[in-house]
Amino acid sequence: MEHRPFRSVLYIPASRARAMDKARTLPADAVIFDLEDAVAPTEKVAARTTLAETLAEGGFGARALLVRINGFESGWAEDDLAAVAPARPEAVLLPKVNGAADVEALARLLDSRPETAETRIWAMMETPRGALNAGEIAAAPRMAGFVLGTNDLAKDLGARFRADRLPLMGALQLCLMAARAEGLVAVDGVYNAFKDLDGLRAECEQGRDLGFDGKTLIHPDQLAVANAVFAPAEAETDLARRQIAAFEEAQARGEGIAVVDGRIVENLHIVTARRTLALAAAIDAMGEAS
Ligand code: COA
Ligand code: MG
Repeated sequence: MEHRPFRSVLYIPASRARAMDKARTLPADAVIFDLEDAVAPTEKVAARTTLAETLAEGGFGARALLVRINGFESGWAEDDLAAVAPARPEAVLLPKVNGAADVEALARLLDSRPETAETRIWAMMETPRGALNAGEIAAAPRMAGFVLGTNDLAKDLGARFRADRLPLMGALQLCLMAARAEGLVAVDGVYNAFKDLDGLRAECEQGRDLGFDGKTLIHPDQLAVANAVFAPAEAETDLARRQIAAFEEAQARGEGIAVVDGRIVENLHIVTARRTLALAAAIDAMGEAS
């Protein structure tokens, strides 16, 4: 798993030049420049040009930059790629991935241009078939991460919106399992009511507890909540340090188990503790780099 933070992953329609400019100073760990559903068909061509200019200009610091292209069935995907390729995008996010073949098709297109030789692929997990094929998708070439598309999933499942997201839980967990099996990043779906920060916080906490690295967001006002919820709390980094110290002391005594705060600490807990500290350090580094 990457230690680079993906707490807050902000969608920005590529048709909105001003919003894209703004992202250079927003506290987002990652940005998704969207050419797909947030851009109307009549705006697609202009949005491509605006996005290509924005990417060429750069200035986004340490933020991860993903370009969401249109799906192959739309007929726009190839031109989307051609427009952004000169900027050597670090990642392309493919919508409505149903199986490994979709990723392989995109990988072949990326292979065909020297500018995209290093470009990684992220998959929108937002169809029932995609969720069922999550394992093979995660293992496909160039894959770096999953973004859950919970609105599309709910639509296709015929599921209703509930605060506890019980109707989506099977798909969320299938996708998370597949991502983790292959060491990919996994980012949770959006919270539509972007003015309801309490509701957002509850859903971020649920996603975090399930194991997601962060949340996709639709408005800058949502950034602070996601950044706070998905960052290790001070009590967690403090506990991690004490667990590592206690475990090292135990090892020095020739023992394989320590006890901290009345709880057992084994090697596997040290793996989690080190991951927590690495994430905290990566978040600090992000702050300094931006
Ligand atoms: N990223 C960056 N900046 C954004 C933004 C975003 N997603 N959404 C809004 N902003 C900016 C606006 O440009 C505005 O900046 P300005 O004052 O400098 O002009 C400021 O934040 C306040 O915006 P606000 O007036 O509150 O929102 P809005 O009415 O302009 O837009 C939405 C509301 C929901 C339409 C807009 O946030 C949006 O398009 N979000 C992304 C939707 C998307 O990408 N969906 C696809 C995936 S689900
Ligand atoms: Mg979608």
